[in-house]
Amino acid sequence: MPDFTDCRFAVREADTDWHAVIRSGGPARGFSEIMPAFGEALSREQIEQVLGILRGFCRDRAWPRGELNLPRPLVTEKAFPEDEVVLTTKLPAEGEPAVTQEIVYEKRIGPRGQIEAKVPFAFARQPGGSWLGGVGDVALAYKRAILHSLSSGSIVSLTGEVKLPSGDPKRGLGKGLTIWETFATYGQLLPRDAFAQFQGGFEFPTRSQVHKAAFWRAVLGKTLTQDSGFGRAWSPMVELLAKRNLATGARIYWDLLPQMQVTLSRRQHIMFNFGVRLPVTEAGPRRTEVLFYLLWDWFDGGLLEGWK
Ligand code: HEM
Repeated sequence: MPDFTDCRFAVREADTDWHAVIRSGGPARGFSEIMPAFGEALSREQIEQVLGILRGFCRDRAWPRGELNLPRPLVTEKAFPEDEVVLTTKLPAEGEPAVTQEIVYEKRIGPRGQIEAKVPFAFARQPGGSWLGGVGDVALAYKRAILHSLSSGSIVSLTGEVKLPSGDPKRGLGKGLTIWETFATYGQLLPRDAFAQFQGGFEFPTRSQVHKAAFWRAVLGKTLTQDSGFGRAWSPMVELLAKRNLATGARIYWDLLPQMQVTLSRRQHIMFNFGVRLPVTEAGPRRTEVLFYLLWDWFDGGLLEGWK
């Protein structure tokens, strides 16, 4: 039986998820059949009242509510602290074939904190036709939600990240230097299940010959849910990505990244996102890329749990 006094579990769940389980029973979200369906015994308003009671069991207001956990874009970082594993794959849509992948492991620390490890690996076809691959620059990060409010629908976090020179730049894997990164992220709920997300920050390479850089990213999206708001969720989003070296006269590189995220499992803890990154200005060495990820919210259940 769930323990609704456990803030670590209870506050991250959004009302719609609990509403679905109370209305249609445990299997509605891939939980046990022991949890009965109350949809014929209780009206929508009565279920809302029950939810109000459940919400009273955790009294610690430090935990950001699950409603502020917005769909994860392909590039822009989220403000909500997470327990998840994400495997992102990038393929160039033109030119020499290459595969770049990144696995991200995120773990919550207390109500507002999160640690994160990112391990990139890449495989590229060499002029002779053989494939060469390996691990790139591993990154470690700490994120902290500094503001969150369900009534205004907003969440703001700060992150510090270090990219370590674990790759081999001679083989095109990593940059061969340590880079410190700091950024702010902001998520905002909008009317009609729409949302906006922003990320802005700086890169500080530890070698003076390499320019510092600034980057900013914005996302607009909307979630459409099947079965009157209780079923599979589809979230079309578009990201606008910008980066500029901090040097006089440096250009701004703008990219657009339309994408679609969809929940795969009934519990909605396994998700897929697919998008195409289009250079808008000064394509230069940048190519159009196809990106997709598989996301596993491991706190909500094992990879094979919660499918039926
Ligand atoms: C008004 C009464 C009840 C309410 C409001 C309620 C609410 C919920 C909710 C919201 C969940 C989903 C928790 C999650 O997100 O992990 C859940 C799961 C569950 N409930 Fe209930 N429930 C009620 C009555 C019952 C009863 C009477 C039983 C058993 C006889 C029961 C057994 C369970 C079980 C076994 C689960 C699944 C736990 C799991 O698989 O992790 N519930 N319940």
